[in-house]
Amino acid sequence: MKLLVTGFNGFVAGSILAQVPKDWEVHGIGRSTIPADGRNIFYHQVDLLDKINLRNSLKKIMPDAVIHTAAIANIDYCEQHKTEAEAINVSATADLANICKEIDTKLVFCSTDAVFDGHKKNYTEDDTPNAINYYASTKIRAEEIVLSASKKNIAARLALVIGLPIMGKGNSFLAEMIEKLKKGEAVKFPANEIRTPVDVITLGAALNELAAGDFGGIIHLSGNTRINRYEMGKQIARKTGFSEEKIIAIDSSDIPGRAPRSNDVSLSNNKARNVLKTPMLSLEEGLELILSGKF
Ligand SMILES: NC(=O)c1ccc[n+]([C@@H]2O[C@H](COP(=O)([O-])OP(=O)(O)OC[C@H]3O[C@@H](n4cnc5c(N)ncnc54)[C@H](OP(=O)(O)O)[C@@H]3O)[C@@H](O)[C@H]2O)c1
Repeated sequence: MKLLVTGFNGFVAGSILAQVPKDWEVHGIGRSTIPADGRNIFYHQVDLLDKINLRNSLKKIMPDAVIHTAAIANIDYCEQHKTEAEAINVSATADLANICKEIDTKLVFCSTDAVFDGHKKNYTEDDTPNAINYYASTKIRAEEIVLSASKKNIAARLALVIGLPIMGKGNSFLAEMIEKLKKGEAVKFPANEIRTPVDVITLGAALNELAAGDFGGIIHLSGNTRINRYEMGKQIARKTGFSEEKIIAIDSSDIPGRAPRSNDVSLSNNKARNVLKTPMLSLEEGLELILSGKF
């Protein structure tokens, strides 16, 4: 198995790369000159907006599968930088899907629970997406492009990801939260936002399994616990040995200048539990795994 992971230095990619089976040949692409961690990995410096470099690299590597994590994943940044978000999240994904089709490579695209408007709950793969912010709109269009390029491609919709960076850094709210709690600072969480958080270790294992397996189509990768972010914050504080009193409930509308967020984008993970050997975990189990120090 030859795997290529985009977004090498990101949060989710770190977990994928740390868990690839030992007999796989693994390639990572990222923008920086030096990889965050190069353990047993062939690193290629590629900006996804550089179509020629992207094409040449893919044709040289000829991977069996690509897990495409690279994106502008910051919802507020996307809202304020729509042209850049469009270029990376949609156009570069389309380029990648075209190249993968040409070389008959499976593409596993990291989408998001944010594709749903939040008016329902426990969304299944058959529910219809409806974007309420620009980030979601880019992800919905990218999903359509990826899925129409090949029946073997996958749109994996990730729920809110919790965990500590394993390699590199990236977008881990847990790391930031622990830093604040260590300094005795309060941490605010919207109580009106309901999610089904997935731990980054389970997520990395599930994405590797999807890359190597026969499944094609849409799949939700989420944890088994449906919880609002405030209660989630309190559970994390308890589990990491901090006082719950530092966790403050707010409403999304209390955060000025924030892009709109869906209230309840809890995902049903029944399909993942049927298709995957990787077990989907409760929040409690996921936190134990993250804090176990195994990775
Ligand atoms: N984290 C979550 O809670 C969550 C939830 C749902 C879905 N997702 C999706 O899951 C995926 C991974 O998320 P993440 O949390 O790992 O994000 P992340 O830590 O922000 O990583 C994204 C990576 O994409 C890379 N990238 C951005 N533009 C690029 C370009 N033009 N060329 C090459 N690389 C580029 C970034 O590279 P640099 O390091 O050079 O900036 C970064 O390393 C994303 O598609 C995100 O939308 C994440």
